[in-house]
Amino acid sequence: MSAKPLLSVLNGTILPTPPLWMMRQAGRYLPEYRALRATCNGFLDLCYNPVKACEVTLQPIKRFGFDGAILFSDILVIPHALGQGVTFETGEGPRLYPLCDEALLRDLEKRLNWSILENVYETVSRVKAALPPSVTLLGFCGAPFTVASYMVAGKGGDEQAAVRLLAYRNPHFMQRLMGVLVEASVDYLEGQFKAGVDAVQIFDSWAGTLPYEEYQKWCLAPTLQIIQKLRARIPNAPVIYFPRGVHQGLSDLVSFGLNGIGLDWRADSRFACETLAPHMALQGTLDPLLLLAGGKALDEGVERILEAYKGVRHIFNLGHGITPPTPIEHVQQMIDRVRKGASSCNG
Ligand code: CP3
Repeated sequence: MSAKPLLSVLNGTILPTPPLWMMRQAGRYLPEYRALRATCNGFLDLCYNPVKACEVTLQPIKRFGFDGAILFSDILVIPHALGQGVTFETGEGPRLYPLCDEALLRDLEKRLNWSILENVYETVSRVKAALPPSVTLLGFCGAPFTVASYMVAGKGGDEQAAVRLLAYRNPHFMQRLMGVLVEASVDYLEGQFKAGVDAVQIFDSWAGTLPYEEYQKWCLAPTLQIIQKLRARIPNAPVIYFPRGVHQGLSDLVSFGLNGIGLDWRADSRFACETLAPHMALQGTLDPLLLLAGGKALDEGVERILEAYKGVRHIFNLGHGITPPTPIEHVQQMIDRVRKGASSCNG
């Protein structure tokens, strides 16, 4: 068996016990995260502090022994590094100075704050040095559409109406913004690989808000560009794409050369196993609310997923991020269920 089970599944191996990690595994449900977070002025300060961000990345690995560690950062460091004003208000989520005209877009092309990302690369190097060799280190970025949705609205929510409206009213502007974000994302992911990540995930959390043709134009096309441009610099770079809320348009991804697809909790497992699994690893799909609920329902939910994805390349994960009120005992319960009998199966 490969030294890194998660990476080996991404590269084509089927394992009897799926490797496991959780979206948002470093975060507010962990008391040790909340304690460290309280020592920082703001959320972005934590993202740009390599010592603390490294510690936070390692916290869920130390407590639970996940197979994957995801770099602690945020998808909104890209607009911030391009020079857009970004703040995180406690309890309110991100706030950005809304991108509304050509002059602001031209400013972003200057990448005024780009060097701040060196801090993130240093976090990657530190995590790499501290991580057990069996753990896969995952970097990430947001997909251009999802990042743009925050840049244009200045916040999240409301099915990201502002960016959808912009795409209809001014497709030329939208295209230019996508171009800026594709180039920025490729440079950022290349920096993460050079600093030591094993694979990356591209989060397209708002992809499911678009009609099919718009999704092809604003989600699939820019994401494919990122993958191709990245692999021209980092050959065979392993990539997972997570287009949350997309169901009808998933089969388009079979020709993308993806290593993995992140499926949300609504995914149709039979379709995924038949159509997608021959081409990529399937990642997911536990409903984060089932993890919050716990008890027998959680056990049954985990079993259903293990059964549904048996025999294909599967990475066990949630269908979206863990919610802050989730008890840590429920996380342990999920892990124990997934790994029961693992010592006799995975060697
Ligand atoms: O553990 C990990 O997953 C690694 C770190 C990580 C964070 N955000 C930390 C974070 C990752 C991979 C992200 C991705 C991210 N950020 C996404 C895509 C995934 C998804 O959830 O859909 C998005 C849309 C964002 C933007 C963002 N960042 C929002 C909307 C919020 C506020 C909502 C919330 O959950 O509070 C954030 C803040 C944020 N990012 C926190 C963390 C731990 C909480 C802030 C805090 O601790 O003060």
